[in-house]
Formats: sequence, structure tokens, C-alpha cells
Amino acid sequence: MPAITDPADEVRRWVIPGESRAYVLTFGCQQNEADSERLLGLALSMGYGRAETPEEAELILVNTCAIREHAELKALSIIGGFKHVKEKNPRVLIGVCGCMAAEPHRVDDIKRRYPYVGFTLEPAKIGSLPSVIAEAIKTKKRAFLLPDGPTAVPPIDEGLPVERHSPHKAWVSVMYGCNNFCTYCIVPYVRGRERSRESGEVLAEIKGLVSSGVKEITLLGQNVNSYRSDCDFAGLVSRIGEIEGDFRLRFMTSHPKDVSSDLIACFCATPHLTAQFHLPLQSGSDAILKRMNRRYDVARYLSIVERLRERDPAITLTSDVIVGFPGETDADFAATLDVLKSVRFDSVYSFIYSPRKGTPAAEYPDPVPPEVSRERMRRLLDLQCEISAEKNRPLVGQTLRVLCDGPSPDGTPGIMTGRTEGNKLVHFAAPEELAGRFVNIKIDRADAFALRGTLTE
Ligand code: 5AD
Ligand code: SF4
Repeated sequence: MPAITDPADEVRRWVIPGESRAYVLTFGCQQNEADSERLLGLALSMGYGRAETPEEAELILVNTCAIREHAELKALSIIGGFKHVKEKNPRVLIGVCGCMAAEPHRVDDIKRRYPYVGFTLEPAKIGSLPSVIAEAIKTKKRAFLLPDGPTAVPPIDEGLPVERHSPHKAWVSVMYGCNNFCTYCIVPYVRGRERSRESGEVLAEIKGLVSSGVKEITLLGQNVNSYRSDCDFAGLVSRIGEIEGDFRLRFMTSHPKDVSSDLIACFCATPHLTAQFHLPLQSGSDAILKRMNRRYDVARYLSIVERLRERDPAITLTSDVIVGFPGETDADFAATLDVLKSVRFDSVYSFIYSPRKGTPAAEYPDPVPPEVSRERMRRLLDLQCEISAEKNRPLVGQTLRVLCDGPSPDGTPGIMTGRTEGNKLVHFAAPEELAGRFVNIKIDRADAFALRGTLTE
């Protein structure tokens, strides 16, 4: 009988120690960032070193996003730029991972138009990276596996190596996929049906992270509220609350139709849980919500906000809104602005509707002209900017507990950034050694997007 070889061993034999390096480029959401940490973890476990740029890499993995057309075009243009890397070094292997790799028309497109791409790998199959690379090395053939499609319930790969981006902040996926089929959204088609991790696996991972010094855990899932194992999501949050240590707990994303009273009751009662909730509204018009298949109306949404604020009046609330959904009238859009004015979110992520091939809304009549969508977007941003600034202003003079992330990404010498409990961005002067530590910052200035403050004892 021929010996069965471990694909990772085959890759290890191909990799040149100290020379072959891997580069992972990430587009899109936090789930993709978490997936990239696994892709890099797998690459390192097969002997690749870590490349600082794609030009010095022998393995380039592009972890793509399919949520809007803009994200797809950006990824394709960057993939196009890797042609010269492959031309210079034939050992280079380029893989397209992430949500675009689960869209049959994109896989076909990549196969035909990007001959230097060696393989595609859909998000549910990250654990197959070693066998895909081993096969590519052995056969010298390109591999474009047909995605499993929207009915698939792929198994969860536990125990994959993870190379975390930050030593003090960690993503922890609790569930994968989505069953909601909002009519604009590609996610249920590219990430398959909902499946939850065992609570024991999640708890063990978090205990390990906390004992290794991680100070902030964000639970991830396309719709964390539909988490189900031997407990529901509120049960999972409560059990995490029992873990000892000095760390913060956040979660995202929630669907308003599934927010339970038990979850609301976790705020102010569960140790570690921060006073912050991201609750996508998408539209303030009941007619649009219905056509989006969101399965809640504005009244229900507002009642959740009211109950959250009854529980904790200071809770930070953020949301997602889509403008220019097919058939959105001036009155529908005005209704969205009305909800923004009445809820007064701390911040809102707003997006112009982008038709996604294969989703129901892509076939809907009455597209909103792009210039109308852009004008609505501008009005929404102006309004929200004013509200965010007004909500941040009372923080001036307060001293807030901030988790110091590290040097400010804009490179201003001596300036560090961090996040408040409500996840607001803060800039302050501090020594770099404070990265990963909780510090007290007295807020001196506040605008719509960030706070500035002074380190206090
Ligand atoms: N067009 C524009 N925005 C979209 N989103 C999801 N699908 C689309 C689309 N087709 C937005 C939603 C979601 C966020 C992650 O992206 O607001 O909550
Ligand atoms: Fe997309 Fe709706 Fe699922 Fe969120 S809940 S991932 S918007 S289908």
C-alpha cells in the first residue's frame, strides 16, 4: 500500500528554508481579517517565512471581498499587478481566496483572464490550503475548484494554526455563514449555511488567549445572534463573562430580528462585556426593509434601541445603512434620515447599494440613478457627522479607560491610538511601551471621528 503523505509535508519539502516567504493581502470585513490570520498561520506552519511585501513572496494569497463591486474591482486590479512577480520568479504561487473565490462567474473570470493565478480557494475551505498547494506543486497545474454553492453546510475546521495580527486583540469566530438571504447580500451564497462552533471550543480558545495576555476579544459571525450549540448566543456571552482576567469582550454582527431579551440583559450584568452594540438598520423605511427581506420593521428596531438604552443609557450604538436600494423614493430616504435623527447613533457605516449577481435585488426594477444615490449619501454623511460630533462633545473633560493599540497609523511621532470601552478612537501622546495596556486618558478634544486626550496616572 502506498504511504499516505501529509500535504503539509510535501509543501515543506518544496519550501526553501529562510528564503520562501508568504504574503497575505486582505480585503473586506473582520471575518476576512480573521480568515487571513488562519491563511498566514497555515503558510508559516508549512515552513514559509513572513514576507513584508508581495514582491519578496513566493506564496501570495489575496483574501478577497465580494460585498460590493468596488471591493471586487480593487482586488482584481491588485491581482493584475502580480503578473510581473510571477514572471520574475516561476516558483511564485498566487492564490485567490475569500468570497470572490466562491462566486462561480468570478472563478471563471480569474481562470480565463489571470493565467498567472495558480488556484482559488473559497472561505469555507481554508483548511484545504496545504493540499491545494501540494497539488499545485506536484502537478504544476492550476486548480479552480467549483464552489460548493449556497446549500452547502461545510464542516468547521477546528485547530487550524493562527498567526494573529495583534498580540493584545483577537478575533474569535463563533459561527460561520448566513441563512438570512437579505435580497441585496452575496454573503449567504459565498459563505454557505449557518454553522456554529461548539461552546467548549470557543471558551477554550478565549481562555488560552486571555492567559497569553490578550486584552480584547471580539466574537465574530455574520449573524452572531443565531449562534446555537448547547447554548444560545446570550448563554455563550454569559459563560465568557465567567472567565477570569482583565479583558474586554465585544461581538459583531447582530441582526435586529434575532436580538433576544437575554442578550440585552447581558449588558451591565456580564463581566468583560463592553457597552457597545453594532446593529445594522439598513433602511428606515418599512417598505424598503420588506423588499430587503430584513424581517423587522422600524418600530421593532426602535424598541430594541429603547430596551438597550433602558439597560445602559451610555451604550455606544453604531449601525450600517444602504442608500439607493432599488425603488428607494425620496420619502423612503427621508424616513432613513428620520431614524438617524431619532436614534442618534454614535456612528454609521453607510454604503451605496451595489447590485450583486445572483441576488434577488439585482433583478429588481427601478434602480436609483447613481447621482441620486451619491446625493443621498452626501446628505446622510452630513447629518451623521453632525450627530457623531454632538455625541462625542460631552466626553471632553472625562477620563476614559482606553486600550492602547500602538503608534498612530499616520506616523505622528510620539502619538499613540487606542479605543475606549465604547470603541471610540482616541489619539494621545504616550510611550510606545504602553501598547497593549489599559490607560486612563483625559479627553481634551472631540470631533465626529476621533477623540484626543492626555495620559493621566
Ligand atoms: N450593496 C451595498 N451595501 C451592502 N452591504 C451588504 N451588501 C451590500 C450591497 N449589495 C452592506 C450592509 C451590510 C454591510 C456589511 O455591507 O449594510 O451590513
Ligand atoms: Fe448579508 Fe443579511 Fe446575512 Fe448580514 S444578515 S450577511 S446583510 S444576508
